[in-house]
Amino acid sequence: MASLSFRAIQKSYGSTKVLHHVDVQVGDGEYLVLVGPSGCGKSTLLRCIAGLEDISAGELWIGDRRVDQMAPRDRNVAMVFQSYALYPHMTVRENMGFALRVQRRPPAEIEAAVLQAAKMLELEHLLDRYPGQMSGGQRQRVAMGRAIVRRPDVFLFDEPLSNLDAALRHHMRVELKRLHRRLETTIVHVTHDQVEALTLADRILVLNGGYVQQFGSPRELFDTPANTFVAQFIGSPSMNLLPAVGSGGEVRIEGVEGALALDRSGPFTLGVRPTDLVVGSGPLKGRVDVIESMGAEALLHIELGPHTIVAQVPEPLRVRVDELVPLDVGVTHAFDRESGVRL
Ligand SMILES: Nc1ncnc2c1ncn2[C@@H]1O[C@H](COP(=O)(O)OP(=O)(O)OP(=O)(O)O)[C@@H](O)[C@H]1O
Ligand SMILES: [Mg+2]
Repeated sequence: MASLSFRAIQKSYGSTKVLHHVDVQVGDGEYLVLVGPSGCGKSTLLRCIAGLEDISAGELWIGDRRVDQMAPRDRNVAMVFQSYALYPHMTVRENMGFALRVQRRPPAEIEAAVLQAAKMLELEHLLDRYPGQMSGGQRQRVAMGRAIVRRPDVFLFDEPLSNLDAALRHHMRVELKRLHRRLETTIVHVTHDQVEALTLADRILVLNGGYVQQFGSPRELFDTPANTFVAQFIGSPSMNLLPAVGSGGEVRIEGVEGALALDRSGPFTLGVRPTDLVVGSGPLKGRVDVIESMGAEALLHIELGPHTIVAQVPEPLRVRVDELVPLDVGVTHAFDRESGVRL
């Protein structure tokens, strides 16, 4: 049973600050997903929790223990890396029991823990194989198994699914959800994958340049992004952002004829998700430039004055390339032009 508490954490390498004031509380048993562009500090934060890096300021708590000064082995966390890092000369059974053997636990206890984890991960029939004799997904499950047998307070996953193909990723994503439900252990999971973040997380922490951009449920981040960064980062395809000016119950998009019936005054950035664009009726006119058909739905890239916007619409389509289509908006978002902060 362990909550996780980041209290004003900072991390610098020499004079370069890579984490600025991370101050976030994660509940016991919560599934936290860390997202952000490459280099934003995701792995660094994970490594700080594991004790592979020291923090430069602040405190890190796991449950009621302050752990930032503790040695990694005393923190009771287990990390799964992107590369799996299995021992090639050990069987699955030996790989999974390794941490417990190092702790000099009785062999019967080790065997029982390995069998239990193997059963959970459907690895029982592979216990005597070597890593080289298994598929990527199976190796991934062994890496998970190695973490599970240690019964940690917190699991740390650094892009654990990124080496897998699309089908296997999906399969493992479902496995992870099931595993979390069974183990009820707190998880911190780093990913680049939108879908992984939105489907797995109880809450998502969005980082950019070492700064926390937003911390909230997938629904909150999707419905009320705190700024234009989160608006464009969460959701695929990205939210359309357009320079707009409002007055007297009308909003005009810069360089575009026609006005939207929206109640906002002054200049702002108008945000519209591709699924919230209405194609086929409305006060604006755009030209269909490119159509990306995806089966059940299509993405329309539409020229709207000097802007290009993306609409996601159901198939079969009633529009063709080069056609002029009337446009309207459903749900909209408004952001400050300068700061990008949600208005
Ligand atoms: N040992 C180090 N010394 C100096 N700078 C480092 C060190 N490790 C990481 N950094 C820098 O810290 C920043 C954050 O790195 P980090 O690995 O946490 O990013 P990340 O968000 O995990 O990126 P990615 O998505 O590419 O894995 C980067 O700018 C990186 O260059
Ligand atoms: Mg990383």
